[in-house]
Amino acid sequence: MGKLTIMDHPLIQHKIGIIRRSDTGTKEFREIVEEIAMLECYESTRDLELEDTEIETPIAKTTVKKLAGKKLAIVPILRAGLGMVPGMEEMIPNAKIGHIGMYRDPETLKPVEYYCKLPADIEERDVFVVDPMLATGGSACDAIERLKGHGCRNIRFLCIIAAPEGLARLQKEHPDVDIVVGALDDHLNENGYIVPGLGDAGDRIFGTK
Ligand code: PRP
Ligand code: URA
Repeated sequence: MGKLTIMDHPLIQHKIGIIRRSDTGTKEFREIVEEIAMLECYESTRDLELEDTEIETPIAKTTVKKLAGKKLAIVPILRAGLGMVPGMEEMIPNAKIGHIGMYRDPETLKPVEYYCKLPADIEERDVFVVDPMLATGGSACDAIERLKGHGCRNIRFLCIIAAPEGLARLQKEHPDVDIVVGALDDHLNENGYIVPGLGDAGDRIFGTK
Protein backbone atom coordinates (compact mmCIF):
# COMPACT_ATOMS: atom_id res chain seq x y z
CA MET A 1 0.00 0.00 0.00
CA GLY A 2 1.25 3.50 -0.85
CA LYS A 3 2.02 5.87 1.97
CA LEU A 4 -0.85 8.02 3.27
CA THR A 5 0.05 11.29 4.98
CA ILE A 6 -2.66 13.38 6.55
CA MET A 7 -0.99 16.67 7.36
CA ASP A 8 -1.19 17.59 11.01
CA HIS A 9 1.14 20.58 10.86
CA PRO A 10 -0.34 23.62 12.65
CA LEU A 11 0.44 25.97 9.73
CA ILE A 12 -1.50 23.81 7.31
CA GLN A 13 -4.43 23.39 9.69
CA HIS A 14 -4.52 27.17 10.23
CA LYS A 15 -4.40 27.91 6.50
CA ILE A 16 -7.10 25.35 5.68
CA GLY A 17 -9.27 26.98 8.35
CA ILE A 18 -9.01 30.27 6.44
CA ILE A 19 -9.87 28.88 3.00
CA ARG A 20 -12.90 27.03 4.38
CA ARG A 21 -14.51 30.32 5.40
CA SER A 22 -17.15 31.54 2.96
CA ASP A 23 -16.05 35.15 3.57
CA THR A 24 -12.48 34.50 2.33
CA GLY A 25 -12.11 36.30 -1.02
CA THR A 26 -10.52 35.06 -4.25
CA LYS A 27 -7.13 36.74 -3.78
CA GLU A 28 -6.53 35.36 -0.31
CA PHE A 29 -7.98 31.97 -1.24
CA ARG A 30 -5.60 31.65 -4.20
CA GLU A 31 -2.57 32.75 -2.18
CA ILE A 32 -3.28 30.29 0.60
CA VAL A 33 -3.87 27.39 -1.80
CA GLU A 34 -0.39 28.13 -3.20
CA GLU A 35 1.12 28.12 0.28
CA ILE A 36 -0.56 24.86 1.27
CA ALA A 37 0.63 23.26 -1.98
CA MET A 38 4.18 24.34 -1.15
CA LEU A 39 4.00 22.78 2.29
CA GLU A 40 2.47 19.57 0.94
CA CYS A 41 5.14 19.40 -1.74
CA TYR A 42 7.79 19.67 0.97
CA GLU A 43 6.19 16.70 2.72
CA SER A 44 5.73 14.57 -0.38
CA THR A 45 9.34 15.00 -1.51
CA ARG A 46 10.80 13.65 1.73
CA ASP A 47 12.01 10.49 0.00
CA LEU A 48 13.71 12.09 -3.01
CA GLU A 49 17.15 10.60 -3.50
CA LEU A 50 20.27 12.57 -2.67
CA GLU A 51 23.85 12.11 -3.75
CA ASP A 52 27.17 13.35 -2.40
CA THR A 53 29.06 16.11 -4.17
CA GLU A 54 32.39 17.76 -3.36
CA ILE A 55 32.33 21.55 -3.00
CA GLU A 56 34.47 24.34 -1.55
CA THR A 57 33.07 26.70 1.04
CA PRO A 58 35.03 29.96 1.63
CA ILE A 59 36.76 28.04 4.46
CA ALA A 60 37.34 24.44 3.36
CA LYS A 61 36.57 21.61 0.97
CA THR A 62 33.62 19.50 2.05
CA THR A 63 31.04 17.01 0.89
CA VAL A 64 27.43 18.16 0.61
CA LYS A 65 24.20 16.57 -0.57
CA LYS A 66 22.39 17.40 -3.76
CA LEU A 67 19.25 15.97 -5.35
CA ALA A 68 20.15 12.94 -7.42
CA GLY A 69 18.60 14.53 -10.49
CA LYS A 70 15.47 12.38 -10.73
CA LYS A 71 13.14 13.74 -13.38
CA LEU A 72 9.90 15.10 -11.93
CA ALA A 73 6.56 16.21 -13.33
CA ILE A 74 3.64 18.11 -11.84
CA VAL A 75 0.22 17.24 -13.28
CA PRO A 76 -2.68 19.44 -12.15
CA ILE A 77 -6.24 18.24 -12.77
CA LEU A 78 -7.92 21.27 -14.37
CA ARG A 79 -9.24 23.56 -13.33
CA ALA A 80 -8.76 23.67 -9.61
CA GLY A 81 -5.44 21.78 -9.65
CA LEU A 82 -3.91 24.79 -11.41
CA GLY A 83 -4.16 26.69 -8.13
CA MET A 84 -1.62 24.32 -6.56
CA VAL A 85 0.96 24.58 -9.37
CA PRO A 86 2.77 27.80 -8.32
CA GLY A 87 3.46 26.39 -4.84
CA MET A 88 4.72 23.12 -6.30
CA GLU A 89 6.94 24.94 -8.81
CA GLU A 90 8.42 27.01 -6.04
CA MET A 91 9.70 23.81 -4.38
CA ILE A 92 10.62 21.77 -7.49
CA PRO A 93 11.36 24.39 -10.16
CA ASN A 94 12.85 21.98 -12.69
CA ALA A 95 9.75 19.79 -12.87
CA LYS A 96 7.94 19.62 -16.21
CA ILE A 97 4.21 20.32 -16.11
CA GLY A 98 1.44 18.29 -17.74
CA HIS A 99 -2.27 19.07 -17.70
CA ILE A 100 -5.30 16.83 -17.49
CA GLY A 101 -8.65 18.61 -17.92
CA MET A 102 -11.68 17.01 -16.28
CA TYR A 103 -15.02 18.23 -15.06
CA ARG A 104 -17.52 16.35 -12.97
CA ASP A 105 -20.85 15.83 -14.68
CA PRO A 106 -23.26 17.49 -12.22
CA GLU A 107 -25.87 14.73 -12.66
CA THR A 108 -23.78 11.56 -12.63
CA LEU A 109 -20.80 13.04 -10.68
CA LYS A 110 -18.58 11.07 -13.10
CA PRO A 111 -15.50 12.85 -14.46
CA VAL A 112 -15.42 13.82 -18.14
CA GLU A 113 -11.98 14.35 -19.66
CA TYR A 114 -11.69 17.29 -22.06
CA TYR A 115 -7.92 17.88 -22.27
CA CYS A 116 -4.66 16.02 -21.83
CA LYS A 117 -1.17 17.29 -22.62
CA LEU A 118 1.77 15.63 -20.91
CA PRO A 119 5.57 15.92 -21.18
CA ALA A 120 6.80 13.61 -23.96
CA ASP A 121 8.97 11.64 -21.52
CA ILE A 122 6.33 11.43 -18.78
CA GLU A 123 6.93 7.70 -18.27
CA GLU A 124 10.48 8.47 -17.08
CA ARG A 125 9.31 10.96 -14.46
CA ASP A 126 8.10 10.80 -10.88
CA VAL A 127 4.68 12.42 -11.16
CA PHE A 128 2.90 14.64 -8.63
CA VAL A 129 -0.82 14.79 -9.45
CA VAL A 130 -2.43 17.80 -7.75
CA ASP A 131 -6.06 18.70 -7.16
CA PRO A 132 -7.36 20.54 -4.08
CA MET A 133 -10.44 18.30 -3.72
CA LEU A 134 -10.78 14.51 -3.50
CA ALA A 135 -14.54 13.98 -3.30
CA THR A 136 -15.90 10.76 -4.87
CA GLY A 137 -12.34 10.09 -6.08
CA GLY A 138 -13.50 9.70 -9.70
CA SER A 139 -11.37 12.53 -11.13
CA ALA A 140 -8.18 11.49 -9.30
CA CYS A 141 -8.61 7.79 -10.17
CA ASP A 142 -9.24 8.51 -13.86
CA ALA A 143 -6.33 10.96 -14.10
CA ILE A 144 -3.98 8.43 -12.51
CA GLU A 145 -5.29 5.69 -14.80
CA ARG A 146 -4.51 7.95 -17.77
CA LEU A 147 -0.96 8.49 -16.50
CA LYS A 148 -0.45 4.77 -15.97
CA GLY A 149 -1.66 4.28 -19.55
CA HIS A 150 1.24 6.52 -20.59
CA GLY A 151 3.64 4.26 -18.70
CA CYS A 152 4.00 6.27 -15.46
CA ARG A 153 4.91 4.03 -12.54
CA ASN A 154 5.86 6.43 -9.78
CA ILE A 155 2.85 8.58 -8.96
CA ARG A 156 1.94 10.67 -5.91
CA PHE A 157 -1.37 12.44 -5.34
CA LEU A 158 -1.65 15.66 -3.34
CA CYS A 159 -4.93 17.25 -2.32
CA ILE A 160 -6.00 19.80 0.25
CA ILE A 161 -9.33 18.32 1.39
CA ALA A 162 -10.43 14.70 1.04
CA ALA A 163 -13.69 12.94 1.76
CA PRO A 164 -13.37 9.46 3.31
CA GLU A 165 -15.26 8.03 0.31
CA GLY A 166 -12.77 9.42 -2.22
CA LEU A 167 -9.75 8.46 -0.18
CA ALA A 168 -10.98 4.86 0.17
CA ARG A 169 -11.63 4.63 -3.58
CA LEU A 170 -8.23 6.04 -4.50
CA GLN A 171 -6.44 3.64 -2.14
CA LYS A 172 -8.45 0.71 -3.51
CA GLU A 173 -7.98 1.52 -7.21
CA HIS A 174 -4.39 2.74 -6.98
CA PRO A 175 -2.80 1.09 -3.94
CA ASP A 176 0.69 1.93 -5.24
CA VAL A 177 0.15 5.72 -5.12
CA ASP A 178 1.47 7.78 -2.20
CA ILE A 179 -1.16 10.26 -1.02
CA VAL A 180 -0.83 13.55 0.87
CA VAL A 181 -4.04 15.03 2.28
CA GLY A 182 -4.27 18.42 3.99
CA ALA A 183 -7.43 17.54 5.94
CA LEU A 184 -9.73 14.53 5.99
CA ASP A 185 -13.34 15.70 6.20
CA ASP A 186 -16.53 14.06 7.38
CA HIS A 187 -18.58 12.95 4.36
CA LEU A 188 -20.01 13.83 0.94
CA ASN A 189 -23.44 15.40 0.70
CA GLU A 190 -26.17 14.35 -1.75
CA ASN A 191 -24.67 16.64 -4.43
CA GLY A 192 -21.21 15.13 -4.07
CA TYR A 193 -19.77 18.10 -2.16
CA ILE A 194 -17.38 17.55 0.71
CA VAL A 195 -18.79 18.39 4.17
CA PRO A 196 -17.72 20.71 5.74
CA GLY A 197 -15.30 21.25 2.80
CA LEU A 198 -14.82 24.66 1.23
CA GLY A 199 -17.36 24.67 -1.60
CA ASP A 200 -16.35 24.49 -5.26
CA ALA A 201 -12.57 24.83 -5.31
CA GLY A 202 -12.39 25.90 -8.99
CA ASP A 203 -14.95 28.66 -8.51
CA ARG A 204 -13.23 29.88 -5.37
CA ILE A 205 -9.75 29.94 -6.95
CA PHE A 206 -10.85 31.64 -10.17
CA GLY A 207 -13.69 33.78 -8.79
CA THR A 208 -16.25 32.33 -11.18
CA LYS A 209 -19.23 32.33 -8.81
C1 PRP B 1 -13.53 19.37 -8.71
C2 PRP B 1 -12.18 19.15 -8.08
C3 PRP B 1 -11.84 17.76 -8.53
C4 PRP B 1 -13.19 17.09 -8.56
C5 PRP B 1 -13.29 16.23 -7.33
O1 PRP B 1 -13.43 19.70 -10.04
O2 PRP B 1 -11.23 20.10 -8.43
O3 PRP B 1 -11.23 17.70 -9.81
O4 PRP B 1 -14.18 18.12 -8.52
O5 PRP B 1 -14.44 15.49 -7.38
P1 PRP B 1 -14.44 13.90 -7.50
O6 PRP B 1 -13.44 13.39 -6.52
O7 PRP B 1 -15.84 13.52 -7.12
O8 PRP B 1 -14.12 13.54 -8.91
P2 PRP B 1 -14.69 20.13 -10.92
O9 PRP B 1 -15.27 18.95 -11.63
O10 PRP B 1 -15.63 20.94 -10.08
O11 PRP B 1 -14.04 21.00 -12.07
P3 PRP B 1 -13.28 22.41 -11.95
O12 PRP B 1 -12.00 22.18 -11.23
O13 PRP B 1 -13.08 22.76 -13.39
O14 PRP B 1 -14.17 23.38 -11.24
N1 URA C 1 -15.32 19.50 -5.99
C1 URA C 1 -15.20 20.65 -5.30
O1 URA C 1 -14.65 21.63 -5.81
N2 URA C 1 -15.68 20.68 -4.05
C2 URA C 1 -16.26 19.62 -3.47
O2 URA C 1 -16.67 19.72 -2.30
C3 URA C 1 -16.40 18.44 -4.20
C4 URA C 1 -15.90 18.40 -5.48
